[in-house]
Amino acid sequence: MKHKKDWFKELVIYQIYPRSFQDGNGDGIGDLKGMAERLDYLKELGINAVWMSPVYASPNVDNGYDISDYYRIMEEFGTMEDWEAFRDGAHERGIAIIMDLVLNHSSDLHPWFQESKKSRDNKFSDYYIWRDPAEDGGAPNGWLSVFGGSAWEYVPERGQYYLHFFARQQPDLNWANDEAREKILDIVRFWNKKGVDGYRIDAISYLDKGLDGRADMSQAFGTSSCANLEGTHQYIQEMVAKTIAPDHLMTVGEVIVNTPQDAWNYTSASRGEFNMAIPFIPPIVEIETWSPTNFKKNLAETYETLKKDGWWARFLSNHDKPRQVSLYGNDGAYWKESAKMLASYLHTLPGSPFVFQGEEIGMTNIKLPSIDDYNDIDTRNYYKTMLQEGASEEEALRVSQNISRDNARTPMQWNSSVHGGFSLAEPWLPVNPNYREINVEQQLQDEDSIFHFYQKLIRLRKENPVMVYGDFQLVSETEGPVIAFIRSLEGTAWLAVHNFSEEEQKLCWDGVRADSEVILSNYSSREGRDGEIPLRAYETVIVKLS
Ligand code: NOJ
Repeated sequence: MKHKKDWFKELVIYQIYPRSFQDGNGDGIGDLKGMAERLDYLKELGINAVWMSPVYASPNVDNGYDISDYYRIMEEFGTMEDWEAFRDGAHERGIAIIMDLVLNHSSDLHPWFQESKKSRDNKFSDYYIWRDPAEDGGAPNGWLSVFGGSAWEYVPERGQYYLHFFARQQPDLNWANDEAREKILDIVRFWNKKGVDGYRIDAISYLDKGLDGRADMSQAFGTSSCANLEGTHQYIQEMVAKTIAPDHLMTVGEVIVNTPQDAWNYTSASRGEFNMAIPFIPPIVEIETWSPTNFKKNLAETYETLKKDGWWARFLSNHDKPRQVSLYGNDGAYWKESAKMLASYLHTLPGSPFVFQGEEIGMTNIKLPSIDDYNDIDTRNYYKTMLQEGASEEEALRVSQNISRDNARTPMQWNSSVHGGFSLAEPWLPVNPNYREINVEQQLQDEDSIFHFYQKLIRLRKENPVMVYGDFQLVSETEGPVIAFIRSLEGTAWLAVHNFSEEEQKLCWDGVRADSEVILSNYSSREGRDGEIPLRAYETVIVKLS
């Protein structure tokens, strides 16, 4: 089948984590000025949209995902003029701007919360979720926050608890309050007027908490027990109708996807919610459960459910996950091969590819020597919980090193000079010491680099509608490390084959001939007979069938 044409489907979205991208004023922290300096680099890579993680005023308990003023830029990142200069520079280069909207919660330093916590009967009292203590004086229910510990915090001034799914400094906003909801929508209207092209909408599955008994109160993990309730969908539809649809902006929601149907509910064109969805999976769960076999199962199921009128956000990395080459590939002996294979997998799938800063040069995980070196609030809390549960310090550190979101947040590696060219000052988070070997400058000079492989894939996508609008059919075996599929559109058919292992594999597929044209591969030669493609370690190959 042919997918309906739409501009958001043709985007290749590059995610910038502003704190770590480029320091423009020499304080060791990335900023908007630095981002603007790197626009030519992004243009050269070929992407046509940038999603920037939050740049609004924030005390940075969760690095910008705790917003104290939605109408101002974080001082460390610059000024509104700097933001406008970045926007204009991006637009001049044909790059769309996608802002991160954090509307499930604010910072506890936001003026609304500062007022709300003072009493039970002021103008802002009901802007957040407050409940009386349980009979024993404890929290209203047993929900745990995503970052560990209870999801409830007691405030003596009100004699009540407020709900926070994330850190206690991130109180959840009350979408059930009509006035609060309108004020929240005003934030979106403000940024629309500023010329934004789209939004990535943070943690949006839990707007309706279901505290009146619709959510499962006995479940400890708050986010899964009350995710995706009907009320949440209604709030999203209202927001989209009032603020997004009139301006035809692009949207990608970060949501909980327990079943393919959940993904369809958020992305179906008929429902008026988002264009695509980023399913949230906690890093520890991803590390423990991912496999090529599970990838294939998921691909098949979601394709069937979404193909009529839904769409996919495709990503292997972001600021909440370990580095993709360390997680799904091999960051040692097969670093280059596996980084390229993952790139090829990402870009050949149906959906819009998201590239997280640094993956285009194969940046890897880092192992910081002590828990004190970690900045990520999630890692620090997780470490504490592990110790409380009896783990040794060595064990807790080892697990933290693997799951930490700081793996993805180390500064961008631009060149082999001090601090990798990110800043002349000591960076807020250490640069990965491998910056001397893995950096942008080196890869720009090397025709065979991971960077150039990404560039080729992005160009191919621009020139070949089959990669965007083509149908998708898996042809590899259900089990095992080879993921192979056909993309087809109006007489054109491409076969994409990816070996997710360092062992040699073989794909048997009748339609392929020994002399079929290779469109792209991470190995320079190909051997094979009619009907089969032998695969070396982490080999990826895109073959033209017709
Ligand atoms: C998801 C964001 O991606 C993550 O970085 C953040 O900590 C939580 N939402 C809370 O806003």
